[in-house]
Amino acid sequence: MNFISANDFSKSQIKELFGLSKMLKDKSKRPLSDRKPIMALLFEKVSTRTRISFESAMLQLGGHPIYIDARTSQLSRGESISDTARVLSTYVDIIAARMNRHSDLEEFASHSDVPVINALTDFEHPCQSLSDIYTILEEFGKISGIKIAFVGDIASNTANSLMITASKMGADVSLVGPKGYAPNEAYIKKANENTDISVCSILKDGLKDCDVIYTDTFISMGQETESKRRRRIFSGYQVNQEMLKYAKKGVRIMHCLPAHRGEEITSEALDSKNSLVWKQAANKLVVEKAIILYLLRQPK
Ligand code: CP
Ligand code: NVA
Repeated sequence: MNFISANDFSKSQIKELFGLSKMLKDKSKRPLSDRKPIMALLFEKVSTRTRISFESAMLQLGGHPIYIDARTSQLSRGESISDTARVLSTYVDIIAARMNRHSDLEEFASHSDVPVINALTDFEHPCQSLSDIYTILEEFGKISGIKIAFVGDIASNTANSLMITASKMGADVSLVGPKGYAPNEAYIKKANENTDISVCSILKDGLKDCDVIYTDTFISMGQETESKRRRRIFSGYQVNQEMLKYAKKGVRIMHCLPAHRGEEITSEALDSKNSLVWKQAANKLVVEKAIILYLLRQPK
């Protein structure tokens, strides 16, 4: 089994993953120490959290990670994605890949004989959404009935994966972004099968009754040439203390990080008592441990 999209795990599988995550908070548990599997981390884009948390996850489980900067591999000289996947999967037991294009990751996974995990593409960030929903579960003791307002770039990879995982687990999602800036229709339709997913451009309406305000950068990796336009269109959607008045009292603030302080979020909001971001970042490690363990136990 691969984990390429937030759609890939069912609700019952996610519950099982959350159970494993809780168990794996105990670092003395090293369920892979007999088998000592190897994980390749093939990254076409930079990373701080996902790379280091996956490497630490593999080491803590009792396995071994190998990081490959794609620019130093033969991919950079034109070797095909399919040939790379075929070869790598004869050397290692599991692969986490961060690729520019989602379709490239799908192609990679279809030629790999070992499980492939999406460590972020231009279209999805499913490990992030799993650990974020796990953080919400820890914080609120439930997911069902929680309302998450995603503010800013509502068409981002993070937003796409979040709406799928959140709705699967029973949370409502309000996508709050500029008028005329369309989030992914197919994902909204899919998520709407489970819970209420709404799209709104007015902060006061979109944030009404929300338990969580979530944001991500206005300029994702690969969108640097659009920086000026993006800063302009999202400028009214900065997460700040002023915005909290529209949400429920005690609303929690989340951000996948890295944050651009003063742009999509203020330092005051990020460092406030409402902020869950550090807990959110820390939980990537345990949830990724659970994902690795779960996939290694499944037939490919
Ligand atoms: N949240 C996240 O994926 O961060 P990195 O880009 O640092 O991995
Ligand atoms: N949307 C961001 C997420 C970073 C973790 C990006 O793709 O750059």
